[in-house]
Amino acid sequence: MAEALDTLGEWSRSDYAGDLRPADAGRDVTVMGWVHGRRDHGGVIFLDVRDRSGLVQVVLDPERSAAAHARGADVRLEYVVAVGGRVVPRSQETVNAELPTGAIEIVGRELRVLNSARPSPFPIEDAIEIAENVRLRHRYVDLRRPRMVRNLWLRHRLAARTRAYLNAAGFLEIETPVLTRSTPEGARDYLVPSRVHPGSFYALPQSPQLFKQLLMVAGVDRYYQIARCFRDEDSRADRQPEFTQIDLETSFMSRAAIMPLIEGLVAALCAEAGAAVPASPLPVLSYHEAIARFGTDRPDTRFGLELVDCTQIFAGSAFKVFAGALAGGGVVKALVVRDGAMLSRKDLDDLTAFVAIYGAKGLAWIRVGADGWQSPIVKFFSDLERARLTAAAGLAPGNVVLFVADRPRVVHDALANLRLQLGAKLGVIDESARSLLWVTDFPLLEYDEEGRRHVAVHHPFTAPLEEDLALLERDPLAVRAQAYDLVLNGTEIGGGSIRIHQSAVQERVFAALGIGPEEGQAKFGFLLEALAAGAPPHGGFAFGFDRLVMLFAGEESIREVIAFPKTQKAFDLMTEAPSPVEARQLRELGIKLGR
Ligand code: AMO
Ligand code: AMP
Repeated sequence: MAEALDTLGEWSRSDYAGDLRPADAGRDVTVMGWVHGRRDHGGVIFLDVRDRSGLVQVVLDPERSAAAHARGADVRLEYVVAVGGRVVPRSQETVNAELPTGAIEIVGRELRVLNSARPSPFPIEDAIEIAENVRLRHRYVDLRRPRMVRNLWLRHRLAARTRAYLNAAGFLEIETPVLTRSTPEGARDYLVPSRVHPGSFYALPQSPQLFKQLLMVAGVDRYYQIARCFRDEDSRADRQPEFTQIDLETSFMSRAAIMPLIEGLVAALCAEAGAAVPASPLPVLSYHEAIARFGTDRPDTRFGLELVDCTQIFAGSAFKVFAGALAGGGVVKALVVRDGAMLSRKDLDDLTAFVAIYGAKGLAWIRVGADGWQSPIVKFFSDLERARLTAAAGLAPGNVVLFVADRPRVVHDALANLRLQLGAKLGVIDESARSLLWVTDFPLLEYDEEGRRHVAVHHPFTAPLEEDLALLERDPLAVRAQAYDLVLNGTEIGGGSIRIHQSAVQERVFAALGIGPEEGQAKFGFLLEALAAGAPPHGGFAFGFDRLVMLFAGEESIREVIAFPKTQKAFDLMTEAPSPVEARQLRELGIKLGR
């Protein structure tokens, strides 16, 4: 049914609805927005008009304006309206203390209905549970909710503050291509077929890494960009296939100079978000210390529960699980839960299943009692092992010890995740505290998942520590990188490094990665040539902007701070992308589908 709609004409808004206050009483105002609520009190109609600033109550009284009142009878929730009227104080009994505009209302003189609306798929409120797929399907409605409006504003303010800080520090904002060659950041590329060059593909950038280095060769000296990056990897709460980085690069600066610059930006962003500004310099943990104490290179230090290395203690263990792991070059490490009474037998079974997710083949445990140890494996322990374990772990009655024995990678992965799981379960994470620290001195290289070839821990352009350079051919896995990651409450919010600026060193690192001269030339010839064109020493950093906004907003997922995010399966429920294309388009691209 077509409804009679009014036109906006030359009418203009005087105020945002949510901004009106008692000081505005007596003013004639015009607000425009959506009908958030409508109550017909037999004769008088109350409308709540909402815009991005909040909402205000409008009274439509037939005694004051018969026309406005009559129009008010036609509107439904989420209709788009313009209202002209006078701001008046509400009577004492009708003041709504919950609402910023609750002490006033607008007495409507003119109401125009600018558009109708289908019934909303869900109420425009925060305090309701809506399935995420429904929210994403109707994202433009979801974004009307106060929480989402707040998140959009916060993101905007943090981006603006970033620009202000970097502009003041002499950085130039420069855009880099989106249709480009692949930059290896460790994920799969999104490819874009070329029509003009059949059989050839652009890659969407996993980051602007190579372009920002080329800008340093160009003499730009200080670059930044709030850049979109694309990585075809499985989505998670803190991962999206396309996401945003605050990307920056500088020339002639050492790690010791870049880190304070980044800390200054973090401080500015904390101030903008109304969060406590951290004391500079931030704590620094080496990669090895982070792994040893927390099992991960992004430790949450808001609570203890650190790993205890028991490898030496069990060097001659009679327990075949420990002995077997150690014989294969593995390690035995443990977590000690001081208040072991909080863990039931069933909890221990659940935790065993939990660590299995990370590849652990079991979770051995000991319950320390006042008169002895209770454990399925204690019969295998010698008196000396018991004494050494008691000393190393500071064991006291009531404690429960949880062990994993395996290859280091499995042990660390399992115990790091178990630690977080226990931290939440035992309620020992101080939610009001903040853990913000640097992790540095990463290894330059590691084995890939299959343990067959070397891959870069960061990316192949990261510079080795000067003093480790000589080890590159002799003992490549021992070479440390001039890299630094920033970790907030257990989330990696950013990372960077000093780069290789000499082509000879870059070729040596390529060689260590199994990239021979020919492949190096074919894939990165432009970089090697640029490095040979007089590249200055340079280095930089990139924040995961979505993650940063998520943490400042107190959200659990970056989807809450991205206007139009994708689902776990990288699908856009609203536009239904990706979608099949027409046969003609494929023909033009020279593409034949294999199905
Ligand atoms: P890196 O790969 O560590 O470094 O990325 C920098 C930061 O980006 C965030 N991030 C993501 N956020 C959301 N979804 C994703 N899929 C995703 N992947 C990464 C993380 C991460 O810390 N070019 C280098 C930076 C440099 O060396 O200057 C780079 O991209 O918070
Ligand atoms: P089993 O000898 O396999 O019956 O295991 C005895 C105990 O050791 C059980 O509690 C297992 O959960 C535990 N266990 C088995 N494999 C491992 C392992 N790799 N690390 C730690 N504990 C393990």
